[in-house]
Amino acid sequence: MADQEPLDGGGQRGAAFPVTVTVNGASRTVLLAPERMLLGMLRDELGLTGAKAGCEVGVCGACTVLVDGRPTSSCHTYVAQVDGSDLLTVEGISAVPELKRLQEAFVEQGGFQCGFCTSGQLMTAAALVLSGQLKAMTDGEIRTHMLGNLCRCGAYYGIFRAIDEVRKDGQG
Ligand code: FES
Ligand code: FES
Repeated sequence: MADQEPLDGGGQRGAAFPVTVTVNGASRTVLLAPERMLLGMLRDELGLTGAKAGCEVGVCGACTVLVDGRPTSSCHTYVAQVDGSDLLTVEGISAVPELKRLQEAFVEQGGFQCGFCTSGQLMTAAALVLSGQLKAMTDGEIRTHMLGNLCRCGAYYGIFRAIDEVRKDGQG
């Protein structure tokens, strides 16, 4: 069977350079052309397939990871932009004590149906928890923060309830 084509086509137009990032606490270096996308690097080069390819044009949020703590559409971010950055993907959140409650709450509150958007939803919500600002936020502010993460199953109420549970617990 032929190898699957890399997500972003794998085109090497610019000279490959060593991209070094910390991913989920571990330092990784990959030789890549600067115009490759972070989503392709995560999925095709590092085997981290939690971030999903939805729209691939920076609209749906399915590919969201944290770059230096900021929710970032990895389908729309060049690897050259993240060289030297600290990345957190959904594969890494179970090792972050502050995010354990968020994972549990998504399960308890039915924050997903098919699960395609869930890693992106979790990462955008994780940024709130890690920021320490969640407990002081209004419902509207939380909804505004989550606006960039679409869910075609319409699990929005469950997703909000999950984040609300963490807020009520006084975490984040
Ligand atoms: S796949 Fe990146 S925003 Fe939709
Ligand atoms: S749970 Fe299916 S897209 Fe959100």
